[in-house]
Amino acid sequence: MKTAKFIWMNGKFKKWKDAKVHFLTHTLHYGTGVFEGIRCYTGSPPAIFRLDEHLKRLEDSAKIFGIKIPFSRPQIKKAIIRTVKKNKLKQCYIRPLVYYGYGAMGLNPKPNPVQLGIAAWPWEHYLGKKAIEQGAKVKVCTWIRNSPDAIPPKAKICGAYANSALGKVEALEEGSIDSILLDDQGFVAEGTGENIFVVKEGVLYTPPLSNCLAGITRKSIIEIAENQRIPLKEKEMSRGELYSADEVFFTGTAAEVTPITIVDNRKVGKGKVGPITKRLQKTYSEIVHGKNDQFSDWLTPIQ
Ligand SMILES: Cc1ncc(COP(=O)(O)O)c(C=O)c1O
Repeated sequence: MKTAKFIWMNGKFKKWKDAKVHFLTHTLHYGTGVFEGIRCYTGSPPAIFRLDEHLKRLEDSAKIFGIKIPFSRPQIKKAIIRTVKKNKLKQCYIRPLVYYGYGAMGLNPKPNPVQLGIAAWPWEHYLGKKAIEQGAKVKVCTWIRNSPDAIPPKAKICGAYANSALGKVEALEEGSIDSILLDDQGFVAEGTGENIFVVKEGVLYTPPLSNCLAGITRKSIIEIAENQRIPLKEKEMSRGELYSADEVFFTGTAAEVTPITIVDNRKVGKGKVGPITKRLQKTYSEIVHGKNDQFSDWLTPIQ
């Protein structure tokens, strides 16, 4: 990975190589933390995309999981901006993590101190430039998404991502770039770290929030689609609807808008990036880079 110079840990900047935790850090053993993934984009000036929404979701994740963040929202916001600036980054990925530190082992995390770290580093297209430009090959995973009754999908809880890692590795081992996970009812839920959209006969469909993360890119795409008068419906979808779709794409902070052109070795539509995906991808890219005044309030400039 590309690195940066400093990581913010509990109020202080540590050199990248010194940003370490104790081996018995509770979250390291049991996944008992919550996190966010945020992006900053070049523009004039560079800006963080929907920062307040990400901070709100971090608070929601913490509330759902029952972990008390030891810093206020303004403090975290300031720390994130300082981390980007201190590292002299313009375009980067930002990772705040709220975790239980070291003090007591066993499954009750509560006796441990709650800590917050914020890293930022340059991270280009998560699923690769080729996937963004020409479309990704993905598979429907044999693992099902965490049931909402087991781990709430609304929260970005560290341990939930063991399920995502299983899906990601399965995809890579079988020659795909990522997996689509079905829920425990057999409906399409989401990618391992992305929401999913399907286009069929000019209508955009996406699964309801009951089985997937309330993605901030998902919400942005819904708002852009409304603005462009592209009809949109939230709908439970079966695996077969992926195969018969005209277009499919992933959305996510890391993945941005990534077209999917092959699902389970079947071409999606004509096997090329479709027109609606292209249009939404272009608008999204213009917005994040500060080239669309209509959505400029989604950006927090880094002066
Ligand atoms: C499981 C999962 N679904 C969807 C998303 C997309 O969410 P967002 O657009 O807020 O990054 C992510 C990324 O955070 C994720 O981890």
